[in-house]
Amino acid sequence: MADREELEFTYSLIDRIFRLSMGELADFSGAKYDGDFSLTLEQAQRRKHEYVCEQIGIAPGRRVLDLGCGWGPLLNFIRERGATGVGVTLSSAQAAACRRHHLDVHLYDARQVSRNTFGGFDAVASLGAFEHFCSLAEHRAGRQEEIYRGLFARIAGLLPARGRFYLQTMVFGRNMIPLETLEQVDVHAERGSDAWYLALMGRQFPGSWLPLSQEQIARCAQPYFHLVSSVSGRLDYLETIRQWRRRFAEPSLSKLLLKLALVPRWLTSADFRLAFTSGVSANSVCFERELVDHYRLVFEKAV
Ligand SMILES: C[S@@+](CC[C@H](N)C(=O)[O-])C[C@H]1O[C@@H](n2cnc3c(N)ncnc32)[C@H](O)[C@@H]1O
Repeated sequence: MADREELEFTYSLIDRIFRLSMGELADFSGAKYDGDFSLTLEQAQRRKHEYVCEQIGIAPGRRVLDLGCGWGPLLNFIRERGATGVGVTLSSAQAAACRRHHLDVHLYDARQVSRNTFGGFDAVASLGAFEHFCSLAEHRAGRQEEIYRGLFARIAGLLPARGRFYLQTMVFGRNMIPLETLEQVDVHAERGSDAWYLALMGRQFPGSWLPLSQEQIARCAQPYFHLVSSVSGRLDYLETIRQWRRRFAEPSLSKLLLKLALVPRWLTSADFRLAFTSGVSANSVCFERELVDHYRLVFEKAV
């Protein structure tokens, strides 16, 4: 899995620029436009929260766990609905930002949460974090399914019978390059090739590796859960990324000063340059080419 240091790289480094660009308590996962791109980003994120709410039941008196809670958008929604939310993240900047908004957030590994950690929950959600739970090295060691199965077992242990788990995650898409040719995925691969874009995406999310398909996830969820519904959000994610890029690019003096403060890192770290300043949106291209896809999965605990 991506460890603390890798997640600090992906999320804490951009903390202030993210909050200045998107706002406090903003989402950093695919929004739910349902193809209606006349919606604003905020409306589409709100629609996603309402969908999660309908699917897993967020209501006064209910306790909900958010695994990989980011800057706290779902936890804030849970609070607005009169329910109790608990979140975990491995980004110290995200945890601090959430706590400034009085959200109950812990710097804790989502893969380790058990009933002894925070007690039981009526429902669990995880948006955009599953991508980080297995690394390429763990995949190569044949451990990917064992990791996912262990996670589903622990989540099931937190829930009552028929308790629900909402999982939103990227997976590899139907045009993913064959796994036997993975050694071609390299930043020195031909510019513009699938392997090059996949390598760039990998630099932004070090330590992370995607599920091979939604079927793999559903298989690992058994016998703890059955899959209630599954919807692809690939096109919605493309629009979300377009909006993020627009917001990140909006000029402001505060952002300029923050970017200037990152110049020494830019000068000294090739990883940083490749991850954040390559000038291309590797994620968008990977979605467009269907090297990756994106799913909203609803699971119900087996009785
Ligand atoms: C793409 S962000 C999504 C944040 C949030 N769920 C949202 O929708 O805005 C991924 C989140 O997963 C968290 N994460 C990844 N791996 C984790 C782990 N093993 N334990 C806890 N949090 C983790 C990151 O720290 C980050 O908060």
